[in-house]
Amino acid sequence: MNGILSPSLMCADVLNLQSELTVLDNLGVEYIHLDFMDNRFVHNLTLNPELIKATKDVLRHMQRDIHLMAFEPEQYFDRMDIGAGDIVSVHYEACGDTLGDVIAEIRRRGASPFIAISPDTPCEALTDWFSAIDGVVLMTVYPGFAGRPIVKGSLEKLSHMRRLMDDSGYRLLLEVDGHVSWELCGQMRAAGADLFVAGSSSLYQPGLDRKEAVERMAALVK
Ligand code: DX5
Ligand code: ZN
Repeated sequence: MNGILSPSLMCADVLNLQSELTVLDNLGVEYIHLDFMDNRFVHNLTLNPELIKATKDVLRHMQRDIHLMAFEPEQYFDRMDIGAGDIVSVHYEACGDTLGDVIAEIRRRGASPFIAISPDTPCEALTDWFSAIDGVVLMTVYPGFAGRPIVKGSLEKLSHMRRLMDDSGYRLLLEVDGHVSWELCGQMRAAGADLFVAGSSSLYQPGLDRKEAVERMAALVK
């Protein structure tokens, strides 16, 4: 299986989001990464739930890869119109002892549950959850803003998570989110990542032709 692109919409031209979505959709990109922040779990606000819901009216085949950096993420699911085909990633650090119920609710809606972990959370925190989820989002930056530097040891952490997932016997996808740069994306692929959140350090660098950038990134993570 080739590496899968998931461009990060919060890094796109925020005054032209509909055309950004259509361009990627027409290029055959598989996923669009939609970051939601509640200004509590992380101190920032980005795409709001109604905008995330509205993307469904535009997308023809691209699937939604929704990343909730929020406490009680389930409160937003209706407003986002979470349903079949969506990847929905919730943070291990934000859900506490409701994580099992949140994962069950994502599945009840026909969506695909992923758990996201921040840089300071060890991979082993998720091993008991492998049987309940479809994948993991490994944050290689501290969540909350685009353009943050990669955290030291992130490539080793990706390899370690890949080994744990493969040893578990469950078929799980490993998504890498944060500073997926031109220089590092090939190494992230070699470390075992399957999905690549392409943001400000690659696809959305100023002045790049979107089609050329998508083709370049797809070739680097093949
Ligand atoms: C950051 C978000 C990322 C962000 C990545 O908290 O989760 O999806 O858009 O942006 P870059 O690629 O600039 O790190
Ligand atoms: Zn994200």
